Amino acid sequence: MKRIIAFAGSNSKNSINKHLAIYASSLVDGVAIEILDLNDFDLPLYGIDLEKENGIPEDAHKFLNLIKASDGIILSLAEHNGAYSTAFKNLFDWMSRIEGKTFMGKPMLLMATSPGGRGGASVLQIAQDRFPRHDANIVAVFSLPNFGANFSEGKIVNSELDAELKSKVEKFQAAL
Ligand SMILES: Cc1cc2nc3c(=O)[nH]c(=O)nc-3n(C[C@H](O)[C@H](O)[C@H](O)COP(=O)(O)O)c2cc1C
Repeated sequence: MKRIIAFAGSNSKNSINKHLAIYASSLVDGVAIEILDLNDFDLPLYGIDLEKENGIPEDAHKFLNLIKASDGIILSLAEHNGAYSTAFKNLFDWMSRIEGKTFMGKPMLLMATSPGGRGGASVLQIAQDRFPRHDANIVAVFSLPNFGANFSEGKIVNSELDAELKSKVEKFQAAL
């Protein structure tokens, strides 16, 4: 059985991006799903001096190994001031010090959601530009605007947006 990992680029306990990642993963048929949470990975703020003194934290290796062992990645990025959340960027920075090909060519469904109307469009743009330089294989991109109005009780309640996500999940599934 194929294995996928799903996670949010957020350390919020009630992350809306985690809710979206969980929902999207539930739409993938016949795979083992592992939901990851950045809070479970103990990573100090990246700094070159810290790296020289202490090396790379075990949990950065652990996360990278989860990517390596997976057949696909569902990632929903929180947008903070038009970019990655600090928690995600920190993880990304640490992992990139171990392996430049951080995403290892695994099929990726890349998403973002936010409470506002742009649905994380800026962070999605940044990620679409950058991730392929780290061997990301982005097979579909989905943005959910106005999370509060469009998502309820674990699913997307706007039928057009739900249909859009489902067609993108199909693409992701076909690439696994
Ligand atoms: C420091 C900070 C900056 C933010 N900047 C943006 C932004 O640039 N664009 C946006 O759509 N939302 C922004 N937000 C709102 C986030 O989209 C919102 O907090 C969302 O819940 C984050 O996703 P999460 O719940 O998965 O962590 C910001 C929130 C914080 C705390």
